Amino acid sequence: MKILVVGGGGREHAIASALARNRKTALYSVMAKKNPGISKLAEEVLLCRETDIPRIVSFAQENCIEYAFIGPESPLEAGIVDSLETAGISCVGPSKAASRIETDKGFCRKLMEEHQIDGCPNYRLCQNSAEAVAFIRDHDGDLVIKPVGLTGGKGVKIMGEQVDRAGAIAYAEQIKGGIILEERLIGEEFTLQAFVDGTHLIPMPLVQDHKRAFDGDTGPNTGGMGSYSMPDHLLPFVTKAEFTRAFGIMRATVEALARTGHPYKGILYGQFMNTAQGPKVIEFNARFGDPEAMNVLSLLTSDLAEIMVRITSGTLDLAHVTFEKRATVCKYLVPEGYPDAPHAGDVIHIRDTNGAIVYFANVEEHDGSLVTLTSRTLAFIGIGDTLDAAEHIAEQAAASVTGFVRYRRDIGTDALLNQRIAHMRELR
Ligand code: AMP
Ligand code: GLY
Repeated sequence: MKILVVGGGGREHAIASALARNRKTALYSVMAKKNPGISKLAEEVLLCRETDIPRIVSFAQENCIEYAFIGPESPLEAGIVDSLETAGISCVGPSKAASRIETDKGFCRKLMEEHQIDGCPNYRLCQNSAEAVAFIRDHDGDLVIKPVGLTGGKGVKIMGEQVDRAGAIAYAEQIKGGIILEERLIGEEFTLQAFVDGTHLIPMPLVQDHKRAFDGDTGPNTGGMGSYSMPDHLLPFVTKAEFTRAFGIMRATVEALARTGHPYKGILYGQFMNTAQGPKVIEFNARFGDPEAMNVLSLLTSDLAEIMVRITSGTLDLAHVTFEKRATVCKYLVPEGYPDAPHAGDVIHIRDTNGAIVYFANVEEHDGSLVTLTSRTLAFIGIGDTLDAAEHIAEQAAASVTGFVRYRRDIGTDALLNQRIAHMRELR
């Protein structure tokens, strides 16, 4: 089975590794930078922009590719699935139209509202910055300001927390295009990812990501500094009933997309805020999360290649998807200065992986040495019977790395987890 994996980050290394566990697969890769982990698994690599659809389609045709697994959002927005499917290649990933659930936040909120889907925060969709500024001027209290389009997880500003009214106005004034103004949700965030084949959804273990750059959730927002998951596949501040409600919101969203003529297949990622009133949708993504893919795919005991085939043929079933009941902790190493002023070109050494899985991300290999680039470098995944055991494995591996990189020591620790549990208890 010839499979093209699109994307070159830690997420795509985890996808490629999971696909490669099936001996009948032959992997091909398209990525912007040569990820050393994916390169080792691939028969052929095309180095090009992940949005260069004509080049990717030709590469797929030349290599007689049968299936494609799309990692990042930018090729989805550029319509890669529509083009590959026209060329007869089945894709794990939604069409351009269905990807709007991620790429157009106005579309997402309107869909939820029109179909009366649970968990939609109060929002106001503004056509331009003038309209948003007028609203902000008259608004009392907190407010969340976001461009409607893709921002790489770094486009949100919260008036009342990060910026005051003047800062909110200044931010809104510089946004081109539509703006969403939203109620500020208070609670604990969690990620629920699901395999989707158009009609059926199969949930994956819950994960909590850490967006802020520094320990104690301080510093600027990043693509995600690391994440963890628990042996029972829930989180200690999310009840089974809240999980079921969040999953119901995802199912209703997939049904609404099908009803509007844009059936959704691929991976659906729900980012939720668990509030005193239950789970609310922060956003949907049309793909695996990075880092969250690394947590769940490291636990997957079924065959991702078979799941891929079932996603594309509409035959997904709970019986085909199983995950180990263990804890995972993912710690991302990033270049010093990331995300605002990342330093690149530094040689790093991993002295001891300590039983952790290594997923490479934005890093290159030169003469056998690993050299940093400007984005997240590589991730260590610890797996254990308890969160503590998983955290120790990831922590020791990360601590063994020498070079101009850093990571968050607090991810997956009991201290941080207890804070989250206490916060949720206080809100309830
Ligand atoms: P996003 O780019 O939508 O993933 O948002 C980035 C981060 O902004 C999220 O992880 C949240 O921490 C925060 N955020 C986004 N929307 C809201 C909201 N309505 N209320 C509170 N926090 C939010
Ligand atoms: N970890 C957040 C994302 O992948 O968007």
